[in-house]
Amino acid sequence: MTAKVRKAVFPAAGLGTRFLPATKAMPKEMLPLVDKPLIQYGVEESLASGIEKVIIVTGRGKAAMEDHFDHSFELEHHLEARGKTALLATARHAANLADVSYVRQKQALGLGHAVLRSRELVGNEPFAVVLSDDIIDAEVPVLLQMLEVYEKYNAPVVALMKVPRERISAYGVVAGEAVADYSGRGSLFRITDMVEKPKAEVAPSNLAIIGRYILTPDIFSAIENITPGSGGELQLTDAIKLLLKSRPVYGYVFEGTRYDAGDKQGFLQATVEFALKREDLGPEFRAYLNSRAL
Ligand code: UTP
Repeated sequence: MTAKVRKAVFPAAGLGTRFLPATKAMPKEMLPLVDKPLIQYGVEESLASGIEKVIIVTGRGKAAMEDHFDHSFELEHHLEARGKTALLATARHAANLADVSYVRQKQALGLGHAVLRSRELVGNEPFAVVLSDDIIDAEVPVLLQMLEVYEKYNAPVVALMKVPRERISAYGVVAGEAVADYSGRGSLFRITDMVEKPKAEVAPSNLAIIGRYILTPDIFSAIENITPGSGGELQLTDAIKLLLKSRPVYGYVFEGTRYDAGDKQGFLQATVEFALKREDLGPEFRAYLNSRAL
């Protein structure tokens, strides 16, 4: 029987250099998509997928994230006194959303290193990793789609997306064999190799790794056994590649639309799409966009 995935780790200690100057004194995970910080979308996706505990790996700007998922008594009192019940519910929702723990990554030494920092809080059980700047709009939450695969194959699962060749060098890329008899949503590959940010000419496929993972606790010793890779950082991709020697790892091409909200262009596109979908903002915003279309 597969152990239940109860915990999700949110590495949020990166420097966010692609979004400077906004991320100089504020973590990029707190950038608002319409009116909600990126990380809240990821936390809500996790909870909708059955995750019970959230672990955030923080660096600088820790206070903003901790405060966001906590009560603001002054704000709540202010809204309550003025009878602003809808806003009060919104403020309380973030505080009551999840059971959140924090662990610090003192230096941004890479995604692998950030995940390793969560070892004690995760313990000896499978867990999810969510990179909250990968915003994925999906009918069925992507983490839930991946958990279905995990439960069937009892093995680590990495989210994949097809990416045009000219953009592949920005991603971790896999080589894999299609699992022909897979009958769930999306499509499934058994991964045979992985490489972080390959040049387009040598990329093993057009299947890029996106920021959702279901991992097993053996990933921690794998991270300890790798050396710094691309960019001088401990890469999670390299650790998963090491795991491939001892166990099967699957890549799942999910159903949904992904936005790289850690990048200015991706963030702008996500903002427009999410604003258009909102009942309260969408119609007026659409009229505005139409009025200025060339
Ligand atoms: P990115 O590759 O997006 O790096 O990290 P970054 O530093 O956040 O942003 P840029 O590229 O400089 O603009 C992917 C995820 O891994 C986390 C980030 O917070 C992000 O969620 N991360 C990365 C860490 O937690 N620690 C690290 O040392 C590196």
